[in-house]
Amino acid sequence: MRVVTIGGGPAGLYFALLLKKAHAEHDVTVLERNAPGVTFGWGVVFSDQTLQNFQAADDDTYHTIVEHFAHWDDIDVVVGDRTITSGGHGFSGIARRTLLDILHRRAVSLGVDVRFNCNVASIEALDSIRACNDADLIVAADGVNSAIRHERAAVFKPHLDVRPAHFVWFGTTRPFDAFTFFFVQNELGVFQAHCYRFEDGLSTFIVECDDESWHRAGFDGADASTTIAICERMFSQWLDGHHLMSNATHRERSPWVNFVRVTNERWFDDNVVLVGDAAHTAHFSIGSGTKLAMEDAISLARAVSSHSSLPSALQTYQDERMIEALRLQNASRNSMEWFENVRRYSHLPPEQFAYSLLTRSQRVSHENLRLRDSAYLSGVERWFAARATAAASRPTTTDTEIAPPMFTPYTLRGMTLVNRIAVAPMDMYRSVDGVPGEFHTVHLGARALGGAGLIFTEMVCVSPEARITLGCAGMYTSEHARAWRRIVDFVHRESDARICLQLGHSGRRGSTKLPWEASNASLDTGGWETIAPSAIPYTPAMHTPREMTRADMDAVRHDFVRAVRHGIDAGFDMIELHCAHGYLMSSFITPLSNRRDDCYGGSLENRLLFPLEVCAAMREAWPADRPMSVRISATDWVDGGVDGAESVEIARAFVDAGADIIHVSTGETSIDAQPVYGRMYQTPYSDRIRNEAGVRTIAVGNILDADQVNAIITSGRADICALGRPHLTDPNWTLRAAAELGYAPQRWTPSYYPGRRQLERELEKQRSTG
Ligand SMILES: Cc1cc2nc3c(=O)[nH]c(=O)nc-3n(C[C@H](O)[C@H](O)[C@H](O)COP(=O)(O)OP(=O)(O)OC[C@H]3O[C@@H](n4cnc5c(N)ncnc54)[C@H](O)[C@@H]3O)c2cc1C
Ligand SMILES: Cc1cc2nc3c(=O)[nH]c(=O)nc-3n(C[C@H](O)[C@H](O)[C@H](O)COP(=O)(O)O)c2cc1C
Repeated sequence: MRVVTIGGGPAGLYFALLLKKAHAEHDVTVLERNAPGVTFGWGVVFSDQTLQNFQAADDDTYHTIVEHFAHWDDIDVVVGDRTITSGGHGFSGIARRTLLDILHRRAVSLGVDVRFNCNVASIEALDSIRACNDADLIVAADGVNSAIRHERAAVFKPHLDVRPAHFVWFGTTRPFDAFTFFFVQNELGVFQAHCYRFEDGLSTFIVECDDESWHRAGFDGADASTTIAICERMFSQWLDGHHLMSNATHRERSPWVNFVRVTNERWFDDNVVLVGDAAHTAHFSIGSGTKLAMEDAISLARAVSSHSSLPSALQTYQDERMIEALRLQNASRNSMEWFENVRRYSHLPPEQFAYSLLTRSQRVSHENLRLRDSAYLSGVERWFAARATAAASRPTTTDTEIAPPMFTPYTLRGMTLVNRIAVAPMDMYRSVDGVPGEFHTVHLGARALGGAGLIFTEMVCVSPEARITLGCAGMYTSEHARAWRRIVDFVHRESDARICLQLGHSGRRGSTKLPWEASNASLDTGGWETIAPSAIPYTPAMHTPREMTRADMDAVRHDFVRAVRHGIDAGFDMIELHCAHGYLMSSFITPLSNRRDDCYGGSLENRLLFPLEVCAAMREAWPADRPMSVRISATDWVDGGVDGAESVEIARAFVDAGADIIHVSTGETSIDAQPVYGRMYQTPYSDRIRNEAGVRTIAVGNILDADQVNAIITSGRADICALGRPHLTDPNWTLRAAAELGYAPQRWTPSYYPGRRQLERELEKQRSTG
């Protein structure tokens, strides 16, 4: 078999040597455009876990690589005069030049033909290169700007996302004992350096900043020398007199680059296959690009060796690696966005800022940090609990000194929650004429007994026509208020929980069948005329709503205010205006369903006008010492719809209209939505709103365990976490979490004490047997 690899980076060289090792009879050539020893970048980092894969693939290169490693455990986050250290991270660094040299030598020793100064700009160009025409397999390992990928773009269908932040990769003689992050905030902007040692006397020093800071600091148009001069001044306090060095080949050009996030729909075309950065990139802040490239090489060499047919080998390789690459790229995206938006987090206290950095990818969790460095985590927990206790306006019965973050109290106006767990609003469709019954008392009562600090009712509808289905709960007569009062009284009498009334109007999603009868299907009989900002049905099969007049708006606002007054009679602690999920208020906000050409349509300001009017009217009717929240869909997940940037404006506007906290959900506004699901998938929207707009938030959506809640709360991505479906399967979710975390002050109803003792004993046994 004749194999040609275009590009002599980690992916190309490693693949070539692994294949040659497995099949000495194959003719394997690597064509590299640069001269030997000429390369970009300085050191690269590997995490300890990565190394095991390398050992299994080729013991020889593994040992030589490890001999050259600089190893460290700590991460230092340096903000101003504060250095916060967390240990146990286990990283190794090596010079990129050394790594390539090791791979090159090994490849040559196995008989790979490695040729330098050989630029291959197209597949056709191989015809004129000695012994490279008619190759059976062509491996495109030509990096992030791959010419081969470009040439075959019609098949590979690459997506290149050029990111807004700028970075430059320097070396320095300044030694580092830890992976160190420096942050500079001044009148020009926010700048960060990612630094680590990769061999004795040499360290990597990557400087990164957002576009605005980049321009203001004078980096636009600056060549390598000018850039170095500015960066040395900027980070002089920490460089200890050491210099920054560039290995850019064209020093007169700008050394700055923007990270490009590369994905491809297909990784092979006939006998041409993509590996490494040509196929996918991972942001340097998670230090996994080289690891991914080398793991591709392992997988491809194995597939080619073990399959008799090339197409099935390449398909196996693609199936194996594409999912893994996407998984890592998702974690890398969170990390990349964190660094792109450091400005957003710069107001956080150093303790929280450092914790937010450490957990930025949402892959390193709270308990993960405890395993790595329990002293660091205990310090953070103590700091958080002391701060939360001081901020809670009323002392609580709990011993917050030792409370894990999720069990710290939280105050909104005159209401103090005992913990940060909420039962998310969930429609049960079990009311009769809008009246909640025994089902609701048992359902909501059980969850209050289960320990959550805040219980949301389902969307309670402000008029008969505001209901989604005939089974939806209402708050439009005194009978409704009396029925709710029984539930509220039970919650208050039997638990520490506070209870929030979510009020909404279904709009164009109303007059439908129960969800277990049919999803989004209009009632055949017994339905009603629906209303919306524009006469556009939610799905083509549903009834078309009537476009609302100003008189309709007055009536709806009146219904909301009436419902608030009934809410006061019922004794609720908090109210929430439902402006999410495509219901009436939400359908005004999103341009996908609001096509009005009067003052309620068009710009975001116009689209918000009516929902803000309702919000302000509710706030006015609601007692001043009780809090109010607004639930929004922070993105429509549709191009041209509401997105993360607009959601920050939406949140600000509702807070100005009287909301105390924003409950951040997403989607359900259009059937064309393309949501990207995953654990905590909506939390980044809460993070952005909380830290960019400076408003309090509730995060919701696929938050499953206490570990995730603790990380979200401690990092300041939200103030409260709402869990929906987990509470459907376990009403006692919070009691269980308290037992698991050993949080003794958790209130249990005395009737449940025997269950508590048994659970705690079982957990103790599990802990002692490891
Ligand atoms: C600032 C920065 C920091 C990074 N830090 C880390 C880190 O700490 N840890 C980590 O794992 N990864 C890191 N990476 C990522 C890492 O460098 C890449 O993911 C990795 O090098 C990918 O390997 P590759 O072989 O696919 O591509 P490359 O290393 O880019 O190799 C491609 C090779 O192809 C050659 N080539 C290109 N075009 C042609 C052509 N037309 N003809 C012939 N040859 C050609 C190039 O000269 C090059 O040698 C970092 C990247 C950057 C930008
Ligand atoms: C059965 C069910 C009913 C729901 N009803 C409502 C509702 O009435 N109001 C609302 O805002 N969200 C409603 N939701 C959405 C949830 O509040 C929550 O945002 C969603 O389930 C994601 O959170 P989770 O992953 O923790 O379940 C409902 C969800 C479910 C599963």
